[in-house]
Amino acid sequence: MKIYVYGVYSDEVPYIKEWQDEHPEVTVATTTELLNEKSAELSKGSNGVVVFQQKPYPDDALRQLAANGITKMSLRNVGVDNINHKLATELGFQITNVPVYSPAAIAEFSVTQALNLLRRTKEFYLKLGKGDYNWAPHIAKEMNKQIVGIVGTGNIGSTAAKIFAGFGAKVIAYSRHKNPELDGIVEYVELEELYKQSTIISLYLPHVPATDKMINRKTFSMMKDGVLLINTARGPLVDEDALIDALDTGKVGGAALDVLTGETKIFNQQINENEIDYPEFKSLVKRPNVLITPHIAFYTDQAIKNMVKMSLSANLDLITTGTSDKLVKF
Ligand code: COI
Repeated sequence: MKIYVYGVYSDEVPYIKEWQDEHPEVTVATTTELLNEKSAELSKGSNGVVVFQQKPYPDDALRQLAANGITKMSLRNVGVDNINHKLATELGFQITNVPVYSPAAIAEFSVTQALNLLRRTKEFYLKLGKGDYNWAPHIAKEMNKQIVGIVGTGNIGSTAAKIFAGFGAKVIAYSRHKNPELDGIVEYVELEELYKQSTIISLYLPHVPATDKMINRKTFSMMKDGVLLINTARGPLVDEDALIDALDTGKVGGAALDVLTGETKIFNQQINENEIDYPEFKSLVKRPNVLITPHIAFYTDQAIKNMVKMSLSANLDLITTGTSDKLVKF
């Protein structure tokens, strides 16, 4: 039995080895290459593939895998928005993801960034670089005085809600499914009400047609002046042009963006500023009240370990039993 693992990063290698030692009956082969039309050929003869990439999985790569008889594919991450679902289904793919690898990794980072915005740390670092050690005029706000609006109370949003509440913030939330674990911690409200009441809004939703650009000119107009926006979910949830205008007018007082609509052009690679063809990014990144990070909220040792080991086990389940508890239902 052979599983082929694409897009392997150095920090994943020890966990692949660990899983391999626990499953001597399986041959695990790896490549640093992402899955594309050309690299699809590398896995020929394998029973399944394990993949991880932010770039879209090219249709021809899926076709090539299927032509080689490989239709069992396990993602090491949660998001499935970079797969052509229709084609994958037509080709008979069974796809698993890792829906819960470490909610705390992402939740903790979103709270960190909210605190950084409140305490204006980027502004102080920028001042420090110029030899300016003055306090004023960058006075901070306290988390315990904030009203935090959590949009989406799945695993990550719920974890974040508890942490924000631990700081003494009032936490309100909107979600299609209410989490009973948050009784007494969170007050569920309608989305419009959340936009109106919150001083900090933090997003924890997947990117699907219904959430595309859900944060837009209309929704900004409902928000409090100076609201802080945190996005560690998916870039396309936010209309970036509308955000730029809202930052210009002061409607938005600060934003922490770990994800961007066009992030695959720049994130997780070395790139010169003059090579970047992404005007919205260029406008956002230079602002003292905007914190941009390259999709790192998930990136902890605990998360990587779970992503690697759970995806390999899910792939093995697909191969040996024809199903998995992590099967994605498109
Ligand atoms: C996910 O698990 O979907 C993430 O957002 C991690 C990302 C680097 C693909």
